[in-house]
Amino acid sequence: MAVGFGKVILLGEHAVVHGRPALAAALQRGAEARTVAAEGPELEVATWELLLRAHGERDPGPHAMLQSAFEALLEAYEPPPALRVQVELSLPGGAGLGGSAALSVAVVRALDAALGLTRSDDEVAEMAQRAERVFHGNPSGIDAAMAAHGGVCRFERATGVRTVRPARPLPLVVGYSGEQGSTKQTVASVARQFEREPERVGEIFDAITAVVQNGQRAIEEGELDRLGQLMILNQKLLSSLLLSTPRLEEMCQAACEAGAYGAKLTGGGGGGCMIALCEGPEVSAKVAAAIEAQGREAFITEAGA
Ligand code: PMV
Repeated sequence: MAVGFGKVILLGEHAVVHGRPALAAALQRGAEARTVAAEGPELEVATWELLLRAHGERDPGPHAMLQSAFEALLEAYEPPPALRVQVELSLPGGAGLGGSAALSVAVVRALDAALGLTRSDDEVAEMAQRAERVFHGNPSGIDAAMAAHGGVCRFERATGVRTVRPARPLPLVVGYSGEQGSTKQTVASVARQFEREPERVGEIFDAITAVVQNGQRAIEEGELDRLGQLMILNQKLLSSLLLSTPRLEEMCQAACEAGAYGAKLTGGGGGGCMIALCEGPEVSAKVAAAIEAQGREAFITEAGA
């Protein structure tokens, strides 16, 4: 089975689009894919009861973009493979957990395996990035890189991914606000703010960079308390870029009141998901229950699959 990992951004989203570093961790959830023989290239997403043909009739619904993204991946395969790629997703879409990149990585790996091709993780990520451009406009590449590499990483546009070694596991609760955030829109909004007020927004990016540098040390030294404080600070900075929502704020507050070291939105914002860093299983269970008590979904995980 070919796999692509979902991810959470621990610190540094949005600033990463503008060349700053970010820290991300792969999730145990993501996408799994395999292939069966077909007449031409096809994509089946069982989770959404969806079957698309490349270069066939355009899908009239919300999946037209997925069809174009699949075609972007297929540009690297000549002749077009007579294979149906069957994908199963274990992440909500539009939630800021890198679902589209996980899907693209799983598709590339399944096709490569069937065709006897070998590619490095970096090459797979580069392929998935073609599809990410269709979905997201100007993606930094962090989602594709994490989907291919897994683990905990520091990412920068200029240098790509570097593995970070946590001194101890990072227990996380992921809460889904139920509001669909559009990463494409929030990335465009931050770009407009940066254009209008380069000094103010540049200073926010500088502050986020400092949070990321300190966060990396906290992870490497196993200082979860400090990492939690940095997450809270990062959330305030994201909120000053108008990326949070009242619901995300409530969820972060509930998580901290239930004992989390810190909490913040993760990914594109404007809805989507938040994460809360916890000491261990007992606190994680309390935090997840507090989020669920607000009528939201939550799952417990450990960062760095
Ligand atoms: O919403 P997601 O999971 O695609 O995360 C996006 C992270 C951003 O920094 C907001 C955008 C990017 O391309 O890095």
